[in-house]
Amino acid sequence: MPPALLHAFAKPSQDAFVTLVRAEGVRTWDDTGKEYIDGLGSLWYCQAGHGRSEIIDAVTEQMKALGSFHTFAPLGSDVSDKAAERIMSVSPFPDGRVFLTCSGSESIDTAVKLLRKIPILNNEPDRQIILKRTRGYHGVNLGGTSMQGIAANREGWGDLLPHVIEVDPDDIESAARVFAEHGPRIAGVITEPVQGAGGVFPPPDGYLEGLRRLCDDNGALLVFDEVITGFGRTGNWFATDTYGVTPDLITFAKGVTSGYQPMGGVLVSRGVCDVLEADPDFVFMHGYTYSGHPAACAAAIANIDLLERDGLVERANQIGERLSAGLNALKADGLLDEVRGIGAIWGAQLSGDDIANRGIAVRDRMVELGVLCRAINGTLAFCPPLIMKDADLDEMVDVLAQAVRENS
Ligand SMILES: Cc1ncc(COP(=O)(O)O)c(C=O)c1O
Repeated sequence: MPPALLHAFAKPSQDAFVTLVRAEGVRTWDDTGKEYIDGLGSLWYCQAGHGRSEIIDAVTEQMKALGSFHTFAPLGSDVSDKAAERIMSVSPFPDGRVFLTCSGSESIDTAVKLLRKIPILNNEPDRQIILKRTRGYHGVNLGGTSMQGIAANREGWGDLLPHVIEVDPDDIESAARVFAEHGPRIAGVITEPVQGAGGVFPPPDGYLEGLRRLCDDNGALLVFDEVITGFGRTGNWFATDTYGVTPDLITFAKGVTSGYQPMGGVLVSRGVCDVLEADPDFVFMHGYTYSGHPAACAAAIANIDLLERDGLVERANQIGERLSAGLNALKADGLLDEVRGIGAIWGAQLSGDDIANRGIAVRDRMVELGVLCRAINGTLAFCPPLIMKDADLDEMVDVLAQAVRENS
């Protein structure tokens, strides 16, 4: 009999799940006492590692002082103000502002609504087209589902948002053709700087620059979805810094609290803020009950402090060197076809036939062997906590090698 909980991205008929009960550092344990290395930072988010008392204590203290309150006007809280300032202190928009949500999906829907609102405020109501890239993952709310470049996540839900055009993820000419045809009607482009859930694909050389140029030339806005890449994952606070291309909006979630509390948001650049602030009578009719929740804000502040204090943003690059060297050695042995990634996010693509099914078999064998990672169309994805030591990284690679050999 299936459990009471309808699991995410699962067959509703499935009745067997791994039941985790504890996590500490880079390891987690299930209800039988079996131990696993957390190779994906839970779900691409646990930068700080598990069981960090700095974050837990900060949340506990906050819950005692102001356990919950909203931030709808005219209210706010000291901790939501502080969290916003702390987030902006590491953001690529030092003079911008941040809107807070409770998840990546809500961040994306907020960004989509901003892409609609800004042209309306600029008296360009016909600018409604949004470009997205094949392979892109932007969450599962209806806006994000419409922005999906992964067909399986998008199809079968009835009509989605109109005016969304999908472009080739690697060929900038594909986007250029859409701009040539629809330029004045394009509100913006949404893309992950490094496509994550689509299989870990860093951008081709010059691609992000190309999108920036097309947006600038046509009066459109560029949105980077940094839900995975934000808060240190690529070796800088944001992939915006890593790639040196600055968008107009940045969505984030996950690493902002290392997942200790649900939080997401949108970083809004000064140029977009200027449009929103221009008319003193304009009201931004958007917000979530839990936007700026005190516990989430306390977790964000403590987490950012911890990442900074422990040099974990820089550690992402060392993790990348070690992990990519290990994965590339497996490639040299013929076990992998391709190794892709940057900083502390990597994808290892299997070689040979039927890699999508074999990827799931490899993933399942790795779970048996005590390593958690994700299988995406024949790519095994790794996104470890930024505290992971070299020995654990090496162990993950060894387990991957064994699982691939057994499933060749
Ligand atoms: C790039 C990206 N955007 C948005 C989301 C959605 O975030 P959430 O699951 O918190 O709603 C994800 C989740 O993995 C993501 O990877």
